[in-house]
Formats: sequence, structure tokens, C-alpha cells
Amino acid sequence: MSRRLVIFGAGGHAKVVVDAIVQQGDSVAGVFDGDAGRHGQEWFGYTVLGGLDAMIDFAASEGVDAVVVAIGDNRIRSMMGARIAERGLRFDSVVHPRAVVSPSARIGAGCVVMAGAVINADAVIGEHAIINTCASVDHDCWVAEGAHIGPGARLCGGVKVGRRVLFGAGAVAIPGFSVGDDAIVPAGGVVRGDVPARTRHPDKIRSSQSNEGE
Ligand SMILES: CC(C)(COP(=O)(O)OP(=O)(O)OC[C@H]1O[C@@H](n2cnc3c(N)ncnc32)[C@H](O)[C@@H]1OP(=O)(O)O)[C@@H](O)C(=O)NCCC(=O)NCCS
Repeated sequence: MSRRLVIFGAGGHAKVVVDAIVQQGDSVAGVFDGDAGRHGQEWFGYTVLGGLDAMIDFAASEGVDAVVVAIGDNRIRSMMGARIAERGLRFDSVVHPRAVVSPSARIGAGCVVMAGAVINADAVIGEHAIINTCASVDHDCWVAEGAHIGPGARLCGGVKVGRRVLFGAGAVAIPGFSVGDDAIVPAGGVVRGDVPARTRHPDKIRSSQSNEGE
């Protein structure tokens, strides 16, 4: 049965979330955003109806099924998820129909899984995580609440990714290592050992094709 979802956030990431919702056969009942300057403005074919209070009223009066926090910034998405939960609304995940998700994987409420993503056996994805376009999360991985696995990134088997980690586009983690809470793995980075919380790893990435001397 199709769902009526509302989204909080009206930026670039939210456009991809809207596409996935619609392609799933669900509908976007309303779009809300924390920036008062955007209220009443047109965005991606929708009118931004208001902020958090307006969304609470709308959900009560219109009978929506769930909320998706469609904000790309991990810290803000996580914080808004907690604030919205305090107000009693529930979250649901969005999985693009062209994503491949193992029946044994567990996807948390409020997660978004974009087109081309693959989530393999026994992987666990926490609330409000983003598994972005063409990312792969292999068997037994654990991705915590609020993390973002960027477009084309690859987590090999058994990798653990902490809360609110930004795992950049095209980055790779080889099997079994952990990335601590709030760490950043730059786009194209390679994780070959445990990454401590709140650090950036690797700090600098050397190109395999040096231009020195040219
Ligand atoms: C790692 C990252 C967060 C750093 O951002 P920042 O703090 O603004 O860093 P800067 O752009 O100021 O760059 C600082 C240095 O790191 C280097 N650097 C930054 N990101 C890099 C990357 N991905 N690969 C190689 N080098 C990188 C810069 O060249 C610069 O080097 P220099 O000091 O020798 O000039 C950012 O570059 C990144 O990779 N973000 C991931 C984005 C992403 O994949 N998002 C997915 C959502 S769509």
C-alpha cells in the first residue's frame, strides 16, 4: 500500500529523496524546511509549507504515514531527527526501487537508500543514515545512526561505521575495520585500519599518478 510521507529539508539531497519516494510508488504529502525564508516558496514542484511546528500540525490534520528528514548534513539531520521524534512523529525508510537490499539486512527508520545502492546480507543500517547513489555496503556491515555513505563508496564485509560519519564519495573500507563516530573519510579515501572518532582519515590523499616534474 502506498504511503503519504512528508519530508523535512528542501535542498539538493531532498530532491533525490523525493525521486526515490515517488519511484517507490509513495507520495510526498508535504515539504517543510527549517529556513523561514523558504516558507511559501516553490521548490522542485512543491510549495515549502513551513517549519517544524507547521509540520506537526500538518501531520495531525492530514494523517501522514511518516516523516523523512531529507537533510544532507549529518549533524543537522541527526539533531532534527531527535527533535521531530520528541514531538511524537514517526519515521520510515525510503528505498529506491533500483537499490538491492538483502532480505536479511536491517534498515533503520528514516534511512534513505538511493538508486543503484547494494546492501548485502546481515548488514545493519541505523536510523537516518544515507546510503547514497551506487554505494555498496557488504555483508555484516554496521552503519550507525546519522551516517552518510557517499555516492559510489564501498564498504567491504564487516566494516563498522559510527554515528554521523561522512564516508565520502568513492571511498573504500577494506574488511573488518571501524570508523569512529563523527569521523570523516574524504572522497576517494581508503580505510585500511581503524579510524578514531572525530578524526579525518586519510588526512591527505596522494594521487597514484604524480604530476610532479611535468
Ligand atoms: C575531506 C573533505 C571533507 C575536506 O574538506 P575541507 O576541510 O573543506 O578541505 P579542503 O577542501 O580545505 O582541503 C584541505 C586539503 O585536503 C585536500 N583534500 C580534501 N579533500 C580531499 C580528497 N577527497 N582527496 C584528496 N585530497 C583532498 C585538499 O586538496 C587540501 O590539500 P592542501 O592543504 O594540500 O591544499 C572534503 O574534501 C571531502 O572529501 N568531502 C567528502 C564529500 C562527499 O563525498 N560527500 C558525499 C555527499 S554527496
